[in-house]
Amino acid sequence: MSVHDTPAWKALDDHAATMKQTHLRDLFLGTESTSRFDTLSVSHQHLLLDFSKQRITQTTLSLLKALATDCQLDDWKARLFSGDTINTSENRPALHTALRLPANSELLLDEHNIAEDVHVNLTHMGSMVERIHAGQWRGYSGLPIDTIVNIGVGGSDLGPLMACKALTDAQPPAGHQLKVHFVSSMDGSQIADLLDQLSPQTTLFIISSKSFTTIDTLSNANTARQWLKSASDVKTELLNRRHFIGVSASQEKMNQWGIPENSQLNFWDWTGGRYSMWSAIGLPIALRIGMPGFKAMLSGAHAMDEHFKTAPFEENLPVQLGMIGVWNINFLDIHAHAILPYDGRLSHLPAYLEQLEMESNGKSVSRQGKTIDYHTCPILWGEIGPNAQHAFYQLLHQGTESVMCDFIAPARRYEELDNSELQQQHQLSLANCLAQSRLLALGDAAIAGNDAAPIHKRYRGNQPSTTVLIDELTPYSFGQLIALYEHKVFVQSVIWDINPFDQWGVELGKKMATDLLKPLLKEQPTTVKERPFDSSTEGLLSAILQKQEL
Ligand code: F6P
Repeated sequence: MSVHDTPAWKALDDHAATMKQTHLRDLFLGTESTSRFDTLSVSHQHLLLDFSKQRITQTTLSLLKALATDCQLDDWKARLFSGDTINTSENRPALHTALRLPANSELLLDEHNIAEDVHVNLTHMGSMVERIHAGQWRGYSGLPIDTIVNIGVGGSDLGPLMACKALTDAQPPAGHQLKVHFVSSMDGSQIADLLDQLSPQTTLFIISSKSFTTIDTLSNANTARQWLKSASDVKTELLNRRHFIGVSASQEKMNQWGIPENSQLNFWDWTGGRYSMWSAIGLPIALRIGMPGFKAMLSGAHAMDEHFKTAPFEENLPVQLGMIGVWNINFLDIHAHAILPYDGRLSHLPAYLEQLEMESNGKSVSRQGKTIDYHTCPILWGEIGPNAQHAFYQLLHQGTESVMCDFIAPARRYEELDNSELQQQHQLSLANCLAQSRLLALGDAAIAGNDAAPIHKRYRGNQPSTTVLIDELTPYSFGQLIALYEHKVFVQSVIWDINPFDQWGVELGKKMATDLLKPLLKEQPTTVKERPFDSSTEGLLSAILQKQEL
């Protein structure tokens, strides 16, 4: 039976007919108005989620709970955590939660305790981090490494990139401030710019790739090795040993590329790429903030795992976040989702969530292989809130699209600094966060005197939002935040009956690019007649080849 046909879905459809006629302003003016925040916000440890600006009532939540029950959410949670093969199209479990289990835990997969493997790996990673921090990892000329370049893309880039920026205030062990850079784009522009500024003698590259076949990453890695070769006259083997660490699920491919065994860090095929920053893919994070900070991040994520596993529907942050998203998408017909952090340290969170949510749930085929007839993942995008105010908030306030927003902000910042200007800047940012979510919800009718304004100055409101308030951005609370979103994505996938852990939609384009590379490299006939492409592609290819000959 399709989720569409469940009694709960039908009841929600009926309820939505009424709720579509109800403005958020009315919900704040009604009898429940003063208690709305108290009854519609939930917290766990360092996170508070305010759902009171969502277009929901207690009835909505009860019906969503019934839908979660009809879809057997609790069973699915149990299957996720126990290592059941829930990624059926790739025939494996999705066990990113195992990466943050505390030491001495037990999780058996094929009768083998994978929690133990995780901690062996963490120890290996810790010893690499220690060597580098201690200045004992030296480049080909004997100078200690002081600069790290992570080469990876997608899940092998976005998580560590986001975390390194988010946790800039977390201090590495005294005196071991490394510069950490990230290179992902295949066109070479990032690496070309970066190499110009770096010293080959003191730069260490981490080649991060679960598959170790991703052409974007391997071409950047080859460029890096070529740069080292041009700068030195030592053997490639020495450059590989002193200047490269490999992080991958494929030891064999790392060997083939030339990464020595003791410079390799492994992880497992049961860790999805976009769920991998908790594994050795997180090495740049550990290098940036130190191993204790990295472990605190894992602990925060583990605390969220336990909360997700055990908290009842009414108190469960990821469940509520996911189900209210389903309400917006499937019942209020909202198909755009803006991620708006009010803290510059979270500038990479939107890009991270774009991959996490859209690569996981951007699907239209059910677990049973049927085309589904309801909406799944919305279009997600975002920007640091204060900057977005000067860019796309015009559309949020006065455009024709309904958009749901997540406002994300830490309550405390700069408290330890003796700089009242910076402290005031933080309050300014919070004031803007509160003002924008208030105006989006209530419209200008909440603001005395604006009702009479000309129509082009009016704000209709009724744009729903969730505010995620973090006590303070620390490795621990950051771990909680990211695990919150991971589980939210899982909850939605259960309701939509899709597999969130595969990504077949990214494969064919890569293969087609390989075919198109041949004429561009002149390895295949360059005349149109002999090539099998469509007329647009042929036209563009010919134009490119012609221009390249000029
Ligand atoms: O092309 C998509 C993808 O497979 C992502 O799922 C993944 O995070 C990224 O490419 C990088 O893959 P890898 O870590 O194997 O290089």
